[in-house]
Amino acid sequence: MAPAIAKPLLSDLVAQSGQVPSSHIRPVGDRPDLDNVDHESGAGIPLIDLEQLDGPDRHKVVEAIGSACETDGFFMVKNHGIPKEVVEGMLIVAREFFHMPESERLKCYSDDPKKAIRLSTSFNVRTEKVSNWRDFLRLHCFPLESFIDQWPSNPPSFREVVGTYSTEARKLALRLLEAISESLGLEKGHMVSAMGRQAQHMAVNYYPPCPQPELTYGLPGHKDPNAITLLLQDGVSGLQVQRNGRWVAVNPVPDALVINIGDQVQALSNDRYKSVLHRVIVNSESERISVPTFYCPSPDAVIAPANALVDDDHSLAYRPFTYQAYYDAFWNMGLESASCLDRFRPNKQVD
Ligand code: OGA
Ligand code: NI
Repeated sequence: MAPAIAKPLLSDLVAQSGQVPSSHIRPVGDRPDLDNVDHESGAGIPLIDLEQLDGPDRHKVVEAIGSACETDGFFMVKNHGIPKEVVEGMLIVAREFFHMPESERLKCYSDDPKKAIRLSTSFNVRTEKVSNWRDFLRLHCFPLESFIDQWPSNPPSFREVVGTYSTEARKLALRLLEAISESLGLEKGHMVSAMGRQAQHMAVNYYPPCPQPELTYGLPGHKDPNAITLLLQDGVSGLQVQRNGRWVAVNPVPDALVINIGDQVQALSNDRYKSVLHRVIVNSESERISVPTFYCPSPDAVIAPANALVDDDHSLAYRPFTYQAYYDAFWNMGLESASCLDRFRPNKQVD
């Protein structure tokens, strides 16, 4: 019999073998321990209604956002302003993309993390020892006209549907960053202007069903390196966030998006707001699709804690760094629980 041809994408590998290959099996001490997870009623994290964000009760919404950023680093939003049909269209085209024949999908394949548009698998196959149970398409989205012509042209509606979603997601990210700045007592535009020209990346994550979910992760525990993440997920659970050393399941809520603070907002807030560890587990029954929008500083933006948040009681938590330096360190380090931010403490040297 001819030897099996190695498949670059997980979805095709699973279709072929039907079991968890050794490349995806975590060492015994590093498995998800699925019974040791808190399943709270409701979302598991605060659910904030943005209906009044631009109305007379703005201060109440801003306060709720600030307190969620301080305590959980994660919250959900409803009435977020992205039209329902835009959200639904995004999920439909994402599913269509991953259901296309292997030969069509492979046209976008690359394992080079520096590429602006690429389909890949796991997290960073060039550096990691064990692979993750995920395929993903990664797209740079802002400024849209600089990237959209390089996006996949199949399914035929892909560019239009994803372009509309990413434009709407950007508007929401900007509104949230304004509210976050205000909640810290800063000028409304503080965070956005600290981010320079800004950048926006999107991942379309595809987690195939997994015959033995206890052996592997969709994504192991990590903190997002960007400023703020807006996560659209289909109806399948999988995301878990850490709270007081315990894993808490974040269950999808219809029409709501999950928002989390990334490392850059933690740095700009001088550690007032926390970028929190989260992970994705997989299940044996259903595939799962999620679409995080990562809103980021531009590579040359210099990130430093806001002066107004540094005083005798709150010493300077980080020395200034460019986002490029941070991002390179993040991808080289791989997904680890240790925060990449610690490398930028005032008394540390970056190697
Ligand atoms: C990520 C992430 C969560 C999810 O891509 O950084 O945390 O539910 N994704 O897919
Ligand atoms: Ni993440």
